[in-house]
Amino acid sequence: MCGIVGYVGNRDVIKVLIDGLVSLEYRGYDSAGIAVNDEGNIKIYKSIGKLINLKNLLQEKKSEIKNVKSGIGHIRWATHGGATEFNAHPHTCSCGKLVLVHNGIIENFKELKEKLIKEGCIFRSQTDTETIAHLFALEYGKTHDLKQAVQNGLKQLKGAYAICVMHKDEPDKIVATRKNAPLLIGLGENENFVASDIPAFIEYTKKAIYLDDGDIAVVTPTNIDFYDENDNLIKKKTEQLPWEPIALSKLGYKHFMLKEIHEQPDVIRNVLNGKLCSIDEPIVLNEVQIDNDKLKNLNRIEIIACGTSLHAAMVGKYIIEDFTGIAVEVEPSSEYIYRKTVTNDKTLVIGVSQSGETADTITAIRQAKEKGAHVLIITNRPDSSMARYADSLIPVSAGIEISVAATKSYTAQLLSFYLLAIKLAEIKNSLSLEYLKNLKHELIQIPVKLEEILNNKIEIQKCARKFANYKNFIFIARGINLATALEGALKLKEVSYINATGYAAGELKHGPIAMLDETMPVLSILIPGGITYDKILSNSEEAKARNARLIALTSAEDEHLKDIFENIIKIPPVPEILSPIIANVPCQLLAYYISEFLGKDVDQPRNLAKSVTVE
Ligand code: AGP
Repeated sequence: MCGIVGYVGNRDVIKVLIDGLVSLEYRGYDSAGIAVNDEGNIKIYKSIGKLINLKNLLQEKKSEIKNVKSGIGHIRWATHGGATEFNAHPHTCSCGKLVLVHNGIIENFKELKEKLIKEGCIFRSQTDTETIAHLFALEYGKTHDLKQAVQNGLKQLKGAYAICVMHKDEPDKIVATRKNAPLLIGLGENENFVASDIPAFIEYTKKAIYLDDGDIAVVTPTNIDFYDENDNLIKKKTEQLPWEPIALSKLGYKHFMLKEIHEQPDVIRNVLNGKLCSIDEPIVLNEVQIDNDKLKNLNRIEIIACGTSLHAAMVGKYIIEDFTGIAVEVEPSSEYIYRKTVTNDKTLVIGVSQSGETADTITAIRQAKEKGAHVLIITNRPDSSMARYADSLIPVSAGIEISVAATKSYTAQLLSFYLLAIKLAEIKNSLSLEYLKNLKHELIQIPVKLEEILNNKIEIQKCARKFANYKNFIFIARGINLATALEGALKLKEVSYINATGYAAGELKHGPIAMLDETMPVLSILIPGGITYDKILSNSEEAKARNARLIALTSAEDEHLKDIFENIIKIPPVPEILSPIIANVPCQLLAYYISEFLGKDVDQPRNLAKSVTVE
């Protein structure tokens, strides 16, 4: 949520800031702003709505900007206070000399605000962030040293933050700090960058230093000093980022979502690479740092996640229980953190998160760790906060995902669960060699099957056009594909704003059937040969009897299906146990094409942000 970029150096500062914000736009997009030090004057430009508004404003104001060597920028996803210009960052103190941008939430901002108002500070916004600006400015008045002011001010803040601050009287300097919110420094020649995420500066440098909680960095074009929370000068490790700027381009696709859907066959090949080398060899998962004896005797796993990652967790539960007999509980992180759980030092807790920054999941895994559990994180961002808290880490290797709607990262999460479940089964000896070989053989075939679906996407596009104008949508499935139904509905909701719901097909007759009539499309996921095929067919017939408009997603060749279903989306044959990886992709395409047909903002749907860093 929200994005930060800062720059000190000789480039066109406005361009660096705006380009940086563009690359962070997937993190939030309610409003945006920048502040620059222009020959000793702090100038601030803000706009509500998408970044294009800020770009246009800066174009208009171009002539008033003279010689800028430093600046900070922010793109906001509103939490405290609506998306207004006053609430947009950067925020300043009463005299306008100190300016800052902030990601996160200041929990004690109300008390601080009251205190600061009594001390004469004039507030202009409803944000928690403005409190920090006034607080740091008061401290600056005592010390006339920006780093010291930040150091003193931080002692009074409670909550999560990534902050970049500038002061009129200390030009060409950014002071940056973080706690429970990501922030890193990009290192250049006579220039340096600060950002909440890598895309903001990857075009200019691949050398970076990650800040840890409590660190303060004093960044100038030619130098960076790091201090810990006790004000000791510290040394930090420089890392070489394994990213290519090309990963941030749409490569000719109309939207990132479509590009990312198409990347899935290669993502799977990538995930399998080195982990599933041949059907005769065991799965290699060196990342799981638990000894085999402990894994063998494991009798309880808890998986915590949110949103799409929660759906991957549901598939994870199904296959781990099926392959190993180990009891698995799945819970949304936001529920896990507010109850007395039975997690203890014998529990393996798996946190699943594309971004590795989701606040609820971070809190949940911290609680689990406090209770002594081994925490295994499955994430697409091995550089994330969650990865840092993890005892073990399975990187899902999907590559950067820009579209707010998760697609390829979900597929990669599923694959990671399959590899983990097979690995556990191998350790526990709970599956026959024949079954394992067949499973591995089928897994290796999946990329080609996905390519087949992608090559026939025109049929899904036609179906999308036919159903795009319906106001409601139901996805039904049973067993392992219940998660697929829920994820299909979530994807459609997110990008098209259609009221889509996923149900266990058997539950339809216990209530939701009341909603069915000719205005309700129902998509049934039917995997022939699976244990629930006939049952879902019966549930679909029940829906047909209420005049619902039926779509089948299936590999069945059954001619009889044409009598029940108005549209049939074909998928290649696949064993039911692996079918979530295949069946999900047409659902992604359906959601994408409906959204595109309706002219929605596919990659940046309203009210959403790519990583949700508030609880
Ligand atoms: C996915 O399409 C969603 N945007 C959202 O549900 C997401 O999966 C959820 O916020 C969890 O994010 P995470 O995987 O980064 O933790």
